[in-house]
Amino acid sequence: MVTIPEYYEGKNVLITGATGFMGKVLLEKLLRSCPGVKAAYVLVRPKAGQVPNVRIADMINCKLFDRLREEQPDFAEKIVAVNSDLTQPDLDLSIEDQETLVGCINIVFHCAATIRFNEPLKDAMQLNVLATQKMLNLAHRMKHFWCLSTCPRLCPCDRELIEEVVYPPPSITGSS
Ligand SMILES: NC(=O)c1ccc[n+]([C@@H]2O[C@H](COP(=O)([O-])OP(=O)(O)OC[C@H]3O[C@@H](n4cnc5c(N)ncnc54)[C@H](OP(=O)(O)O)[C@@H]3O)[C@@H](O)[C@H]2O)c1
Repeated sequence: MVTIPEYYEGKNVLITGATGFMGKVLLEKLLRSCPGVKAAYVLVRPKAGQVPNVRIADMINCKLFDRLREEQPDFAEKIVAVNSDLTQPDLDLSIEDQETLVGCINIVFHCAATIRFNEPLKDAMQLNVLATQKMLNLAHRMKHFWCLSTCPRLCPCDRELIEEVVYPPPSITGSS
C-alpha cells in the first residue's frame, strides 16, 4: 500500500482544462498535497491575445494558490504550459511537444470540456467527444488516463439507479 503523495512521487502529470473551475483546483491540490510531483504539464490554448505561459502565470497569481505559494514558494517551476487547442487536428500539438509528452507523462487528467448544456451540438461534440478521443489516442501512448466528467452521472437519465459506471448507449429501434 502506498499513500497518494507516495504514488505521485517523481511522477509527471498532464492536465487539460487547467484554467477551468475543476482543473485549477486539481492543479493546486496536486502540487500542494503531493509535493513529490515532478512536473505538471498543462495543455492551454492562447486566449484573448495571451499565450499559454502568460495565462498560467496570471492564473497562479490568484488567491487559490496563496497557500501553495506560502508552503512551496518555487511551485511555479513545476508547471509547464504547452500550447494546445484540443479541437484542432492533433490537439494543435507540435510533433516535438507530442514526443515530449509521450516520453515523460505518467498520468493524464482530462478536465477540459464544455459544460454549457445549450451549446450547439456540433461544438459540444468537438470538445466533449472528439477532443476526448484525441486525448485518449495520445494517452494510449502513455501509461495512465483519468477522465474527469459528469457524463456517466448525467447522461443515463432514464435510469432510476445510476451507478459509477459508463453505460452502453441505448440501442436505436424503430427506424429503417
Ligand atoms: N464544475 C463542476 O462542479 C464539476 C463537477 C464535477 C465534474 N465536472 C466536470 O469537469 C469537467 C470540467 O468542468 P469545469 O467546471 O472545470 O469547466 P470550465 O470551468 O468551463 O473549464 C473548461 C476548461 O476547458 C478548457 N477548454 C475549453 N475548450 C478548449 C479547447 N478548445 N482547447 C483547450 N482547452 C479548452 C477551458 O480552457 P479556456 O480557459 O481556454 O477556455 C477550461 O480550462 C467537465 O467534464 C465537467 O463535467 C465539473
